[in-house]
Amino acid sequence: MEIKSILVIGAGTMGSGIARCAAEHMVGVYLTDSDISIVHNAILKIKERLKKEIEKGEISEEKAGQILSTITPCSCPEDCQSADFVIEAIIEDIETKKNLFARIDKIFPSQVVLATNTSSLSITEIAKSTRNQERVIGMHFFNPVNKMKLVEIVTGEKTSQKSIEKTKQLAELLDKTAVFVKDSPGFIVNRLLIPMINEAICLLYGNVADRDSIDTAMKLGAGHPMGPLALADLIGLDICLHIMENLEKSLNDPKYQPCPLLRQMVSQHKLGRKIGEGFYLYK
Ligand SMILES: NC(=O)c1ccc[n+]([C@@H]2O[C@H](COP(=O)([O-])OP(=O)(O)OC[C@H]3O[C@@H](n4cnc5c(N)ncnc54)[C@H](O)[C@@H]3O)[C@@H](O)[C@H]2O)c1
Repeated sequence: MEIKSILVIGAGTMGSGIARCAAEHMVGVYLTDSDISIVHNAILKIKERLKKEIEKGEISEEKAGQILSTITPCSCPEDCQSADFVIEAIIEDIETKKNLFARIDKIFPSQVVLATNTSSLSITEIAKSTRNQERVIGMHFFNPVNKMKLVEIVTGEKTSQKSIEKTKQLAELLDKTAVFVKDSPGFIVNRLLIPMINEAICLLYGNVADRDSIDTAMKLGAGHPMGPLALADLIGLDICLHIMENLEKSLNDPKYQPCPLLRQMVSQHKLGRKIGEGFYLYK
């Protein structure tokens, strides 16, 4: 069955990014959140972003208009029952996600795939809240969604081949490259990336090298587009800490212990770019 429209639940950073990306690729989008005013606000932000892109000549006025007209704001999932695919992008809380999946499982017919954009929670665990666990899958996008080419397709214990194929089909429609990974903490990218960032923080903490040397070394010596400390600032130090704690707990291995300097910076609210200070200062 062709995917003509999707429902995106959660109109925050990722949900609105996914909505914009789908609309850009001519896939109809219903966008919802816990409150319709949040959805209207998210659409306004997409509009402002598009306006800037028009001014810079990155997008035509016509294309921006098409994107906006392809996103339909909705007050609840119950109003979007004609969607062919559902992507959940609400807060990272297992109970909240399980409640939502139990609810949408009742609303959508069994051929509709229910995907979660979770970055750290278990797909198998979320699926347990539904009657049809075969259709629950992870579809992990990266921020900013319209620029990042990757989607991790994460299979839970009971995810069916049919659901995998349909998710792959949607990834292709959105011009993303899909990689496949079993439900496991951090999936591929965060399991590799966040411990590397943590190790860079350990180098700084142990006075082995200074900030600029660490970042320059990884840029020029390993070909990374940005250094690990600058990347930590971009991701958010609180998010890096949360992922390390999750890896340590779920893999039960001390090698994932967060660096004391990472904890210290989070407790001092030096969270990176979003607040203007992390390993670097931002104006
Ligand atoms: N931010 C990232 O870089 C990133 C990257 C990949 C995956 N993720 C994952 O994507 C998900 C969303 O992250 P985000 O950064 O967009 O968060 P966010 O806080 O920006 O947005 C979350 C949205 O969910 C809404 N919400 C909360 N409970 C809801 C409910 N019961 N029903 C409907 N809407 C509800 C909130 O009002 C909010 O608008 C999380 O699972 C996160 O782990 C985030």
